Amino acid sequence: MSKYIVEDTRKVTTHRLIEMKRKGEKLAMLTAYDYTMASIIDAAGIDIILVGDSASNVMAGNITTLPITLDQMIYHAKSVVRGVKRALVVADMPFGTYQVNADEAVKNAIRIMKETHADALKLEGGEEILPSIRKILDAGIPIMGHLGLTPQSINKFGTYGVRAKDEAEAAKLCHDAQLLQEAGCFAIVLEKIPAQLATKVAESLEIPVIGIGAGSGVDGQVLVCTDMLGMTADFTPRFLRRYADLNTVISSAVGNYISDVKSKDFPNEKEQY
Ligand code: KIV
Repeated sequence: MSKYIVEDTRKVTTHRLIEMKRKGEKLAMLTAYDYTMASIIDAAGIDIILVGDSASNVMAGNITTLPITLDQMIYHAKSVVRGVKRALVVADMPFGTYQVNADEAVKNAIRIMKETHADALKLEGGEEILPSIRKILDAGIPIMGHLGLTPQSINKFGTYGVRAKDEAEAAKLCHDAQLLQEAGCFAIVLEKIPAQLATKVAESLEIPVIGIGAGSGVDGQVLVCTDMLGMTADFTPRFLRRYADLNTVISSAVGNYISDVKSKDFPNEKEQY
């Protein structure tokens, strides 16, 4: 049973998230990529489920988020939506589907919304993708921005280290955050930036700022579900808090199953027809 009791069981909307920020209530967001995990996370009371392109890493085993395709993201988002009753479902637009031009971006965004029934989309970047953001918003599709460490740009950055440590990058990030709010984004993810900078951005905006490796002064937190559940044993960044050790739980369950099969203990009399 979840420790968190959801009093308000109505479907979460983008408006409610902005209202929550106004009231000082923190937003809890996790990723999910499939029906079963999404059902569990939703029933436990999470506010936002992100169908992240981190599926490329944790579901498909790629080194980066770049290879995941539009069709694959649609498959994951459709599966998640089927499991969710309450949370707001946000789907990532994958690399290459919104950077070419605004017309292509809105075409791809409409396809994701039509085929998955997700509630909103997330795009990485600021001023450079503003024409795409505006066109998608004009089509009536809510957008969550994503600034700081934007993993689709890993080949430009060359490292997964903390972003916006120097003044110029920090100033550009603050400017981009303002532009995203002015354009009409309903929230922004800030990934792996100094906590002080993230707090300053959150305090300067009316829309919620959701952090991952961005400290406690923002309006909410997001983690990758397989990381916080302790399934990805080798991934140990400083910002990650593990709430379970499913790697050990699963290994031990599988070990017990193997030994029961080999010893002919499974199935027993009651486990057959
Ligand atoms: O794809 C993802 O999981 C994300 C989160 C890390 C914010 O974008």
